[in-house]
Amino acid sequence: MADVRERLLAWYDEHARVLPWRVPPNNRATPDPYRVWLSEVMLQQTTVAAVKDYFARFTERWPTVAELAAAEEADVLSAWAGLGYYARARNLIACARVVADRGGLFPDSEEDLRELPGVGAYTSAAIAAIAFDRRAVVVDANVERVISRLFAITEPLPTSRPAIREAADRVTPERRAGDFAQAMMDLGATICTSREPRCLLCPLSDVCEARAMGIAGDLPRKIAK
Ligand code: ADE
Repeated sequence: MADVRERLLAWYDEHARVLPWRVPPNNRATPDPYRVWLSEVMLQQTTVAAVKDYFARFTERWPTVAELAAAEEADVLSAWAGLGYYARARNLIACARVVADRGGLFPDSEEDLRELPGVGAYTSAAIAAIAFDRRAVVVDANVERVISRLFAITEPLPTSRPAIREAADRVTPERRAGDFAQAMMDLGATICTSREPRCLLCPLSDVCEARAMGIAGDLPRKIAK
């Protein structure tokens, strides 16, 4: 496990995607919780490529959570147009107002973040880990794929979710859990891709159980709909 953690973090230090809501590579500062929260809400059900422009426009127009909280709801909804799922935009405004009422400070634990409008299990874990360097287990679809392969979890999704979560919990480090989660996401997006994974470039290839079995590209299995 220590192997997996160290290698993945070393890989991330070299190869992290440069994304507008991240701090620059090798900068140990934690990013602004407002930007982390906004990006994670936008990234629910929307691709990184599509979110980039929206994120830039939102943060330019509303650079702080207090400014977003003071915005006209109609302006926020029209800036959101195209991202889909309007409930997310309504929750975004509601959440900004709750946080602004707390003096603009986001709660710093997974448990307290979970109380905010529109912040579910995934988002609270992501914000706690990425913005506050808390140990939290962050599992999205990319992480599910990487973990299924690394531990050769052959049971299909969604039945395998508890096993995937448990394995993700075992590999998550005490420190840099946010970098670790984003490293898994980047590995899943760029190398451990759903079809034809690029195992030759993967920092975990020699400890990957699915690769050893020759079934990396077949996982995760899914129950036929
Ligand atoms: N998808 C969801 N959150 C992400 C993040 N922080 N980095 C890259 N992809 C993501």
